[in-house]
Amino acid sequence: MPSSDDADEAAVTTAVTVTPRADGPLVVDGPVGLTRPDGTVEPAQRLFLCRCGHSADKPSCDGSHKRVGFSAPGVPVARKPGRP
Ligand code: FES
Repeated sequence: MPSSDDADEAAVTTAVTVTPRADGPLVVDGPVGLTRPDGTVEPAQRLFLCRCGHSADKPSCDGSHKRVGFSAPGVPVARKPGRP
């Protein structure tokens, strides 16, 4: 029989998802908290975390992965209707 700790852990692991985008950032869907260098915690429902190493706003993605041609496997980005 699972303990209450197991149940809590299961709730946490299903409450947050981390999805690598093809050729782009890690998308973290929460709610989550991002701790800044000054120790403040910024709450967010969704974070885009750089995994190319070129963002000027680490740990957040600033779109630099496109400029540098970052390539890595991941989930393709869904196109918005009417956009190429
Ligand atoms: S993944 Fe977007 S700037 Fe690094």
